[in-house]
Amino acid sequence: MVITISTDKPYDVVVENGALDRTGTLLQPLFKAGSKAMIISETNVFPLYGERLTQSLQAAGYSVSSFVFEAGEPNKQLSTVMQMYEALSENGFTRSDFIVTLGGGVAGDMGGFAAATFLRGIDFVQVPTSLLAQVDASVGGKTGVDLPFGKNLVGAFHQPRLVVSDPDTLHTLPEYYFTDGMGEVIKYGCIMDAALFDKLEQGEIIDRMEAAIAHCVACKKVLVEEDTTDKGRRMILNFGHTFGHALEKLTNFSGLSHGRAVSIGMAMAAEVGESLGVTEMGTAARMRRVLESYGLPVQSDFDFGDVVEATALDKKSFGKTLNLILLKSIGDCVIHPIDRSYLVLRYKIAAEQNRRRK
Ligand SMILES: NC(=O)c1ccc[n+]([C@@H]2O[C@H](COP(=O)([O-])OP(=O)(O)OC[C@H]3O[C@@H](n4cnc5c(N)ncnc54)[C@H](O)[C@@H]3O)[C@@H](O)[C@H]2O)c1
Repeated sequence: MVITISTDKPYDVVVENGALDRTGTLLQPLFKAGSKAMIISETNVFPLYGERLTQSLQAAGYSVSSFVFEAGEPNKQLSTVMQMYEALSENGFTRSDFIVTLGGGVAGDMGGFAAATFLRGIDFVQVPTSLLAQVDASVGGKTGVDLPFGKNLVGAFHQPRLVVSDPDTLHTLPEYYFTDGMGEVIKYGCIMDAALFDKLEQGEIIDRMEAAIAHCVACKKVLVEEDTTDKGRRMILNFGHTFGHALEKLTNFSGLSHGRAVSIGMAMAAEVGESLGVTEMGTAARMRRVLESYGLPVQSDFDFGDVVEATALDKKSFGKTLNLILLKSIGDCVIHPIDRSYLVLRYKIAAEQNRRRK
């Protein structure tokens, strides 16, 4: 399946079992033979797929080098990008050469950021290997790194020239991270696709990953094309992320994976929405059931006030106001600006009312 993302420079997202080995061929219309390609990957994924990708690129006539960093979110930082710049410089990269990111969202975001900034921007190609990256992170051109005081605080919009998603690579993805990615799939159902949510509720997705990934990419396409720089409707993709990022920060980016943090964040957003009268009653319970059925958490031990406090550096927050993404019902959502202290108050009142009702 090929989905074309029609941004300023349109690009294809190829979702196909076995596509990894066709990467070089798929790139031939985009880059001249003889161009340099640097595979940017990490210590878990490169040993599994680096050799196959290298061979595919070499067979298509590219001169291939690689940069492999220590896997994991704690390494998604500027010092790692600095090492990438060094490797690109040492290998004599020019603006007609390109980067190929191979891995999950961490490799994609960081390799994409290096591409966005090296020589004021060189081309890059995404080869996502985690479910989260295949359904979300690899598409739409958001690249960047974390700072010690917040997630993804430094970055750039830089669209890839091609995305090659091979669902077969998910066979080696640890179940823990597969579950993380399912959180993002559920997110698409919640914010814009009630039919997808119904299928998830009925457990119909897992056996047809290729179609499910393409379906999610098609959802993301709509939002990226409408709002490429994330200033309007594309923000709905951040459903659950405001609280999720706050939870990641409270656990120092190591206690809770991104997907699990977002899962709890989505459940919180649904509860908040109900407490504010924005979200149809019963939605939070329905969501919690689906999230839990895919092994995702829906509760945290942190005090809600502390979570709201930790949203202070959220990119969707302006002073005391937080732009929350709330559901009206499954498949339909709104961007809801709200004062932080009012939010804490309303949530506490609703929690107390629920406690008394029980
Ligand atoms: N740019 C965007 O639009 C966007 C959207 C969502 C998330 N993100 C970012 O994505 C990151 C999370 O992505 P992630 O969950 O993919 O994290 P990740 O890149 O850390 O991958 C998760 C784990 O799975 C391993 N892995 C990946 N593919 C594998 C495979 N096929 N076989 C074996 N192991 C494999 C990795 O080594 C890592 O240990 C976060 O940094 C988040 O901010 C970006």
